[in-house]
Amino acid sequence: MLRIGVLVSGGGTNLQAIIDGIESGYIPNASIALVISNKKNALALTRAAEANIETCIISRKQFDSPEAFDQALVHSLKEAEIDLVLLAGFMAILGPGFFSDFKNKVMNVHPALIPAFSGPGYYGLKVHEAVLSTGCKVTGASVHFVTPDVDAGPLILQQAVKVKQGDDPETLQRRVMEEAEWKIYPEAVRLFALGLLDVCGQHVYISD
Ligand code: GAR
Repeated sequence: MLRIGVLVSGGGTNLQAIIDGIESGYIPNASIALVISNKKNALALTRAAEANIETCIISRKQFDSPEAFDQALVHSLKEAEIDLVLLAGFMAILGPGFFSDFKNKVMNVHPALIPAFSGPGYYGLKVHEAVLSTGCKVTGASVHFVTPDVDAGPLILQQAVKVKQGDDPETLQRRVMEEAEWKIYPEAVRLFALGLLDVCGQHVYISD
């Protein structure tokens, strides 16, 4: 059984997509053993509680340094015997210390087609604002393994989404979630759970 830990900060709709994927059997042989939020009021915590998933709050403010924050996260994840960590709208940057214990075992969903509109400063609605102000006709979402370089780890899945005339950041965010994020994130986790992902440098190979 794959034990998943999910790191959240906000609404938790991607967490919900993973919960639903496990409950429906789409993601086989997996369970979410722990949800960690760095924000005490995150709606994601309510979603986790409703699904009877253990939660805890670990806030950056509790620690003197980013390294101590990373180590607290690692400690909780290891204590819960987590095999795969999912960042699902987690609005904190993890330092290199985090990854020594979870190399190629941390995934993130990003609301754009990486490498476009990605890296430091591109998160949440800011991504969609930047897409709209650039006049792009197409955007999308990406799921990737996480490395210390923000949004630069090996790409697992990407899905394109049309930008429509008259979109504002909120309508575009919603379409990217519905048509891309909530589909490709559970799909990537399913592939991982089935042992079908091989990482070789910057490339992820998917077995049939
Ligand atoms: C999602 O759109 C996710 O892709 C984005 O934040 C939102 C969280 O929503 N993440 C980033 O921008 C990370 N760089 P959720 O809490 O409802 O899943």
